[in-house]
Amino acid sequence: MYDITKMTLDDLNNIKDNLISDFDDFWNYSVFKSELESDSSHYLVVKDNSKIIGFAGIKVTVPDCDIMNIVVKKDFRNQGIGSLLLKELINLSKSLNIKNLFLEVNEKNTPAISLYNKFGFKKISIRKNYYKNNNAIVMRLDLK
Ligand SMILES: CC(C)(COP(=O)(O)OP(=O)(O)OC[C@H]1O[C@@H](n2cnc3c(N)ncnc32)[C@H](O)[C@@H]1OP(=O)(O)O)[C@@H](O)C(=O)NCCC(=O)NCCS
Repeated sequence: MYDITKMTLDDLNNIKDNLISDFDDFWNYSVFKSELESDSSHYLVVKDNSKIIGFAGIKVTVPDCDIMNIVVKKDFRNQGIGSLLLKELINLSKSLNIKNLFLEVNEKNTPAISLYNKFGFKKISIRKNYYKNNNAIVMRLDLK
């Protein structure tokens, strides 16, 4: 049974030591902590029997917002948990009266692009070499 709740600093501290090994290596603890504590950020965490198996967050810049990250624990990927998190992020954004959800995704990140396509995000531009040697695809979901 999965529970999705607001992510707290305690949640982050629970995964602090396994953040890179179990989740991914693009955010370190201190960047994550300051994001979590920012007034414009909203983070969700998904738990399986109290164990954190994914998290996702947005940063609001009214009337729009950016998806900052959406990450599922490695062993739990491709089982619908990313979809669960994204659905909740979309609901949360709607409840905040957000008009557009934006994100950047590495053009080589097929799983993430599949997830965003599934929810109706549309490609709006390319940012050249945004990630070291790879381009970023900028995507948008119109919530109105
Ligand atoms: C991107 C990510 C969050 C997706 O989470 P997930 O739990 O695996 O996603 P889901 O199981 O809900 O799958 C969503 C859709 O993408 C597709 N998908 C998932 N993994 C895939 C893969 N490896 N290759 C192709 N398609 C894939 C699924 O088929 C699914 O579509 P469907 O429901 O029509 O079958 C996860 O792969 C992840 O944590 N990646 C590392 C972090 C990352 O890159 N985050 C995004 C950028 S911040």
